Amino acid sequence: MSYRHLVSIRDLSEPDLHQLLDLSEWFMPQVEAGGFKMDTLRGTSCILLFYEASTRTRASFEVAGKMLGSDTINVGSKGSSTEKGETVKDTALTLNAMDHNCVVMRHETADAINIFAQYFERGLVNAGSGLGQHPTQALLDALTLRRAGLLEKGRRVAIVGDLRHSRVMRSNLQLWASLGMDTVLVAPPQLMPDGWEGLHPEHWADDTTGYGSVTWDTDIDRVLPDVDAVMMLRMQRERMDGGYLTNSDEYSKLYGLFGHRMKKLPPHAIIMHPGPVNRGVEISEEAFLDPRCRITEQVTWGVASRCALLCWSCGRLPVGFAVTA
Ligand code: NCD
Repeated sequence: MSYRHLVSIRDLSEPDLHQLLDLSEWFMPQVEAGGFKMDTLRGTSCILLFYEASTRTRASFEVAGKMLGSDTINVGSKGSSTEKGETVKDTALTLNAMDHNCVVMRHETADAINIFAQYFERGLVNAGSGLGQHPTQALLDALTLRRAGLLEKGRRVAIVGDLRHSRVMRSNLQLWASLGMDTVLVAPPQLMPDGWEGLHPEHWADDTTGYGSVTWDTDIDRVLPDVDAVMMLRMQRERMDGGYLTNSDEYSKLYGLFGHRMKKLPPHAIIMHPGPVNRGVEISEEAFLDPRCRITEQVTWGVASRCALLCWSCGRLPVGFAVTA
């Protein structure tokens, strides 16, 4: 195996996806048992280059790297040479010249990761790029769906909330569509991305035979009874430059996952959220505690999926994991 870049969900073939999910499952018992120490990435260094706020994504990559024996090093925009005007290209060249094995990068612009990818020759993982992509979140969401038996053709998933600013939605809908799953986007017009129809992979994939659909609905109550999973999103106020949202109470009433709506969601359906969660705004405490809710599990399972991603991007598989694909 050699070094790999995961910049966009498009970088993953279907065998890649299944291998990453199988590898995540392989790590799962050890992660759920409270952690482990392995030598798979012993002797490597992974830079966590986070130019934007993060708790779960950064911490899960850090703990995953440490459990695999890698030296993980945190670099943020504050205190780095970015403050002195260093470009993304020069940062990539600098880290490349130090022979680091992997960079996990989060940046507030969609394009920085593409520039970085041109100059960094080893493993690279996109941990969120502006309004662009968040493929590692999509991967852990896929794992969550697969564990519920829902990652299969014909399943229908709703994503509700601030879709305009959601890179999670962008990566997920591309992944789901390519697997033949249908996505329903649920949001008021002002929270929909301009030209949302163009997000469907039919606009760039060579062959979209068997792909699932992507539709838009403004009425969550109409959508809920007919889904296998619902993903709630937070209002990304830090990206709103005004005009998108009037008030949270109004939003909660129209789009929040609250009491009466829980009854509309089928018994087999699961509730997901990438976090951070604003309890009482997009989701109620009751929904959070409902047995269909997988939000806490997503965080734990995220560690297993990041273990898989670091191995994959560094081109090293753990001893004992059999390659099936
Ligand atoms: C998301 C992100 O950063 O894109 N969160 C995450 O990675 N877990 C979504 C968000 O910030 O609301």
